[in-house]
Amino acid sequence: MTNGSQSAFFYLFNLFAGRGEDGTLRRILFPLAPEYLGYSDAGLEENMFVATKPIISLLADGQFKYHVDFAHLKVGEDIGLICVSRPTNPTGNVITDEELMKLDALARQHQVPLLIDNAYGLPFPGLIFTDARPLWNPNIILCMSLSKLGLPGVRGGIVIAGEPVIRALSNINGIISLAPGGIGPAMLNSMIRRGDLLRLCEEVIRPFYRRRVDEAIACIRRWLPPERCLIHKPEGAIFLWLWFPDLPISTDALYQRLKLRGVLMVPGHYFFPGLEQEWHHSRQCLRMNYVPEAEKIERGIAILAEEVARAHRETVV
Ligand SMILES: Cc1ncc(COP(=O)(O)O)c(C=O)c1O
Repeated sequence: MTNGSQSAFFYLFNLFAGRGEDGTLRRILFPLAPEYLGYSDAGLEENMFVATKPIISLLADGQFKYHVDFAHLKVGEDIGLICVSRPTNPTGNVITDEELMKLDALARQHQVPLLIDNAYGLPFPGLIFTDARPLWNPNIILCMSLSKLGLPGVRGGIVIAGEPVIRALSNINGIISLAPGGIGPAMLNSMIRRGDLLRLCEEVIRPFYRRRVDEAIACIRRWLPPERCLIHKPEGAIFLWLWFPDLPISTDALYQRLKLRGVLMVPGHYFFPGLEQEWHHSRQCLRMNYVPEAEKIERGIAILAEEVARAHRETVV
């Protein structure tokens, strides 16, 4: 256990990467950008992250999906750990079982661990709307969280890994926090004893988010046609990732305009930790939270559509 999975990433990243005694830098590889923003400052050294751009496949109904670009994925000598969130914050992507197995094989071939950030995954909180199987073996470090069960304040992180990794993490825990807090584990324990944990995930948590995401997509389509806005296929997690391929301004500028009107959506370029080259796509995307009530979503999307239309109008003039 760690005090939140966020602290587990900090421990693990700096355990497996950073500057060694001989001065060489080992780095963390994110095989599929965009990735979780919370990784970006978790390295004690500069340039500790490397990321690979995805392949984009266009789907029906104005949706798209990112895939790992294995042809360009390079696991160099300097890589100490491969890390992927599944489901992914910000995109809602769930890398396929096949992609996960390929990453697992690649990690073992290069003798580095594969960290799977399962904060939204299976078996709990189970925020996955597609077919996906969990994977574990002694080379995989599986990180889980109590936060997305509705318990972010108890700061409960769980790491499932081989004994040497757990021993090292126990030592780090001892040095940094003496011991992880016990309230989260006590609550989880009694939920498991009552048979509530998986039942609540299946009957309450997942249906709630499924309903909300469907409503939010229907709302987006009332205001923004696919020619203006593509939506990453929502396969899990609690966000929608919107892509505006022809937007004449950056999503950073759009964010500023939306903020002035009381709408907060996060500009996409923050979600590319480790991507070394500039990629225009990263400035064409926004992350939105789809959880607020329907009326708030409707108002926010209406303002978003107005601002997108205004940006297009201004460039025509
Ligand atoms: C993908 C992902 N992993 C991990 C976390 C952090 O979770 P925790 O609250 O357990 O530190 C988050 C939080 O938003 C997240 O989105």
